[in-house]
Amino acid sequence: MNTLIFFGSPRKNGGTAALTDILCRGLAGGHKLVYAYSSDISPCVDCRACRTLPGCVIKDSMSEVYDCIAECDNIVIASPIYYAELTGRLLDVASRLQTFFSARRYRGEKPRIRPKRGGVILVGGGSGGAERAFETAKMIMREMNCRDIFDPVCSTNTDAVPAETDEIALSKIRALTDFLNDTERT
Ligand SMILES: Cc1cc2nc3c(=O)[nH]c(=O)nc-3n(C[C@H](O)[C@H](O)[C@H](O)COP(=O)(O)O)c2cc1C
Repeated sequence: MNTLIFFGSPRKNGGTAALTDILCRGLAGGHKLVYAYSSDISPCVDCRACRTLPGCVIKDSMSEVYDCIAECDNIVIASPIYYAELTGRLLDVASRLQTFFSARRYRGEKPRIRPKRGGVILVGGGSGGAERAFETAKMIMREMNCRDIFDPVCSTNTDAVPAETDEIALSKIRALTDFLNDTERT
């Protein structure tokens, strides 16, 4: 069982990191983190090469992420909420999934991605906006063939309650961990 985690915070010791770390410690199998802010993954520029060619003409670390997406059992998107959305760098990385859309829409191919479970961790200061970010996360995860997406783990008042002491978020992290470790699903 393997979990691929897209990590969208620029803060490696912030609230998103704290919740993600607890999740990782509970996961039964291996996991890989894609750090959106420190990776060399460039955004899609809609060059449209993938409308006729498989893969992506941009050669960077996304190549190995494509391999992990094909094979992993679980995908997690973990992000702070910025302007009611996932962070911009995380959306940059997600934009490279356009090749999967192009495979279906323009090349008439079914991307070879095994079905998987999905989880979402969202952390906000207190001005709201988890709903829109969750909708976006679900759209991105469906592109990676996530068939079963768990309720989001939200800690949305970190200005007053740090994520690592948010008891509701911590109990939801435990529930998400059980969900991702459940080999009977999907
Ligand atoms: C540019 C920017 C936009 C933000 N927009 C929101 C927002 O729309 N809603 C919210 O609740 N918090 C917002 N925040 C606050 C962060 O989500 C909050 O500080 C969060 O705890 C950061 O998580 P991290 O420590 O994991 O990076 C914003 C912060 C920044 C820097």
